[in-house]
Amino acid sequence: MKRTIIPVKRKTAQSYTIVIGDDCLKKLIVDIKTKKWANRYAIITDSKVKKLYGEKVQKILKKAGIETVLISFIQGEKHKNFKTVQTILDSLFKEEFHRDDGIIALGGGVVGDIAGFVASLYMRGIPYIQIPTTLLAMVDSSVGGKTGVDTKWGKNLIGSFYNPKAVYIKPSYLQTLPKKQLRNGFSEIIKYGIIARPSLLTFLQKNKESLFAAKTKATSKLIAPCVRIKRTMVQVDERENGMRKLLNYGHTIGHAIEKQSHYTVQHGQAISIGMSIINTIAVSKKWMSKKNAETIKKLFKTYGLPTKLPTSFSNVALVNSIKMDKKIKHNKKTFVVATKLGKARLSTSITNQDITKACRKHA
Ligand code: GLY
Repeated sequence: MKRTIIPVKRKTAQSYTIVIGDDCLKKLIVDIKTKKWANRYAIITDSKVKKLYGEKVQKILKKAGIETVLISFIQGEKHKNFKTVQTILDSLFKEEFHRDDGIIALGGGVVGDIAGFVASLYMRGIPYIQIPTTLLAMVDSSVGGKTGVDTKWGKNLIGSFYNPKAVYIKPSYLQTLPKKQLRNGFSEIIKYGIIARPSLLTFLQKNKESLFAAKTKATSKLIAPCVRIKRTMVQVDERENGMRKLLNYGHTIGHAIEKQSHYTVQHGQAISIGMSIINTIAVSKKWMSKKNAETIKKLFKTYGLPTKLPTSFSNVALVNSIKMDKKIKHNKKTFVVATKLGKARLSTSITNQDITKACRKHA
């Protein structure tokens, strides 16, 4: 496949590029050597990606004369916490990492968020590079500099905005990704389609087989447009004061679902339920047509994504969890509502009663 390079321009700091292509590790080596971001790198990954790609990437970099150490932690959202961060920081000290050393985040969203957070903390900040290996991380979390951990207070409520030096996306990594994980990514892609680019939805409707087979030709057609949408949003609004909030469509309720399920409901599933609940509210207020809500529901079904809450869920607990979400300002909950396919806006007029009523319909 042809290599795509997407620049992310930043107003107050250094810009960076997102490289998409199966030969992107070649570009990584050239960039490491010419840009001299760091003397050596800690490849931070999880137990699963370590076996699949961690050792391979380390070997490729060694062959190119780039010194690395490999640090891994147990796979899963449950490990996206302070304990993991502390353990990695300890490893960096034991390896005698200095300010002029760097980090390579190799993995999915959890790895990227943890490694980026560690990079922002270690010696008050060292450079890092993102190499996402899941669809969700490729189209969303590796771009835009959000890093952090989950705590008892909620998902991603503690963290930093800390941008990578570059992002390298190798679509063929998706060929080893379990279907469940692919679905997480499809959920985010459906989100992009609804809030910004309906042609993505048409592509998803027509190419289910090749997308679930992670055929590079098909996945690449989705990755680059999604990255471009996200790039535009973070360029305009890096700190999420305006336009970037639209990326949270379905996420305010979704994060509360993840937390309430103790992270047994995956992110992609939680946000498909979140988007569906918000759509029910939007239809009831005549902000969205029933037809559009039905089209979205059908697409979630096609991609095996739920629209109903888990049976054990308490609506009261869910509404309380939503209150802790970071999108809440001056006691006013801001929700993203889609008004038609390709168009979304913010709303502060959705009440707890609206949510409870809609949740009942999704129970
Ligand atoms: N995942 C939403 C954002 O990066 O803003």
